[in-house]
Amino acid sequence: MIRFLYFCLIISFATNTWAQDQKNKPLKGVAIAKKGTPVLDAKMDEIWKSCPKYMVNQPITESLEIDSKDMATATVRLLWDDGHLYALWVIKDSELSADAGDDWAQDSVELFLDQNLARSTTYEADDAQYRVNYEGKISGQGTGYDEADIKATTLKNKKGYIVEMAIRTHAADMKAGTVMGIEFQVNDEHDRAQRDAIAKWFHTKDDSWQDTSTFGKVQLK
Ligand code: BGC
Ligand code: CA
Repeated sequence: MIRFLYFCLIISFATNTWAQDQKNKPLKGVAIAKKGTPVLDAKMDEIWKSCPKYMVNQPITESLEIDSKDMATATVRLLWDDGHLYALWVIKDSELSADAGDDWAQDSVELFLDQNLARSTTYEADDAQYRVNYEGKISGQGTGYDEADIKATTLKNKKGYIVEMAIRTHAADMKAGTVMGIEFQVNDEHDRAQRDAIAKWFHTKDDSWQDTSTFGKVQLK
């Protein structure tokens, strides 16, 4: 009898721990942005260290010209304040180049934002694609894109580079609880003047630049 009770106790403990783990597990495709205003210096300042990081490491199979283990990948952390969303990207990229003619083919990162979470299949006035290459060159597309809305700094390091972005959010109610659509992408120009790989966070097709319906989400905390 004692043995049986002991057995029940162990089972109930294991089930509870499992349930707790499930509860604490981040939801796939849902990123959390903590509140705070970073200094835009492309450095991992204290404020970033407590932010959860998200992996941008899923290859877009159709666009893969190299072995996926050689593809550039990144981690992204997010912060927000009254008028902005901030992203700190740490990119692993063994060969840095901006030789390709198209901005999206150079070593660069892209943040796609659907501020009103309408998940439209074409870009509306609140939707934009923001891109920064490893040398800090800014570009972007989409109905809601305005170059004046983005500032960024970059720094190279031994493993690749860091990008710190500030995006002015004009169409979202910046308060705790707000949810926007978001996607992250790393473009990898490997050893020729062309894009050899694309890594993404959530959606695994190269269509985030024209369709917001498959973005993941960011929740302001
Ligand atoms: C895509 C490219 C596309 C470009 C347009 C990039 O995110 O990967 O394929 O041509 O956006 O802005
Ligand atoms: Ca939208």
